[in-house]
Amino acid sequence: MAYGLLKGKRGIISGALDEKSIAWKVALKAKEEGAIFTLTNAPIAMRMGAIKELAEKCEAEIIPADATSTEDLENLFVKSQEVLGGKVDFVLHSIGMSPNIRKGKSYTDLNYDWYKQSVDISAMSFHKMMQTAYKLDAINEWGSIVALTYMAAQRTFSFYGDMADAKATLESIARSFGYHYGKFRNVRVNTVSQSPTPTTAGGGIGGFDRFYEFAEKMAPMGNATADQCAEYVMTLFSDYTRMVTMQNLFHDGGFSMTGVSEELMEMLKM
Ligand SMILES: NC(=O)c1ccc[n+]([C@@H]2O[C@H](COP(=O)([O-])OP(=O)(O)OC[C@H]3O[C@@H](n4cnc5c(N)ncnc54)[C@H](O)[C@@H]3O)[C@@H](O)[C@H]2O)c1
Repeated sequence: MAYGLLKGKRGIISGALDEKSIAWKVALKAKEEGAIFTLTNAPIAMRMGAIKELAEKCEAEIIPADATSTEDLENLFVKSQEVLGGKVDFVLHSIGMSPNIRKGKSYTDLNYDWYKQSVDISAMSFHKMMQTAYKLDAINEWGSIVALTYMAAQRTFSFYGDMADAKATLESIARSFGYHYGKFRNVRVNTVSQSPTPTTAGGGIGGFDRFYEFAEKMAPMGNATADQCAEYVMTLFSDYTRMVTMQNLFHDGGFSMTGVSEELMEMLKM
C-alpha cells in the first residue's frame, strides 16, 4: 500500500545492483510513494545492465558515479538537479565493498591497500557525497540523507572483517556531518542498521547463510527483509521524521537488544 509519503520530492538513490539490492527495493518504494529520483552506481556495475530495467520501471535517469570520486559525485549532484528540475530532498547511500572480504583475508591478515579501499568505498564515500552536496547547496531545507549500515560497527562479528571498521566510520560520519547539515539547512542524516539480508554484498560475507539463520532465530521478530527496510527508509525520507537526525537506527526485528532467544537455547540442549 502506498501513502503518497514522498509526493513532490526529488531524490538520488545509489547502490541498486540487481533486484536483491536493498537500494532496488528503496527505488521501487520511493516511486510508489510519489517521488522522482535519479539512480546511480559505479560505472562498472552499469555494465551488468540490471539497473536499466529498474530505471525503466521507475522512469528514472541513471547517472553513473564512482562514489570514491569527488568529480563523479559533483557531476551526479549537478546533473540530478538538472534532470529533476531543482534541489533534491533525499539521498540514499547504499554502498559497500571490501576487497579483503572478497578475497577471503581474515581480520588478522589484512592487506592494507585493500583496507584503504574498503574504507574509501564503504565509509569515506558517504562523507564525499555529503561534502559535495553541501558545497553545491544541492539539498533542500528539511531534506533527508540515509546510509545503510550493520551492527558489526558496535559489536564484534568475527567474520565481518574490515567492514566493521568501515561501518563504525560511516556511522560516525553520519553524526558529524549531521551536526553541520542540521545547522546549515535543517537537513537530517541517519544510518539504518539492517538485519543480514541475502544480497550480493551480504552473501559475500563468509558463512552468511549460517549467520542469517542464527540472526533469524535470535531476533524475536526474525530478520527484517529488504522490502521492510525500504518501507522504513520511506518514513525517514518523509516529512514525519524531520527532527530525527545523527542517529543510528536499528531495523533488525529486535536482534540488537536480545541477549539470547528460546530457539537458540533449545538448540544448545542437543
Ligand atoms: N546485505 C546485508 O546483509 C546488509 C546488512 C546491513 C547493511 N547492508 C548494507 O547495505 C548497503 C547495500 O548493500 P546490499 O546488501 O544491498 O548489496 P548490493 O551488493 O546489492 O549493493 C552494494 C552496492 O554498492 C555498489 N558499489 C560498490 N562500490 C562502489 C563504488 N565505488 N561506487 C558506487 N557504488 C559502489 C555496488 O555496485 C552495489 O550496487 C551496503 O552499505 C551494505 O553494507 C547490507
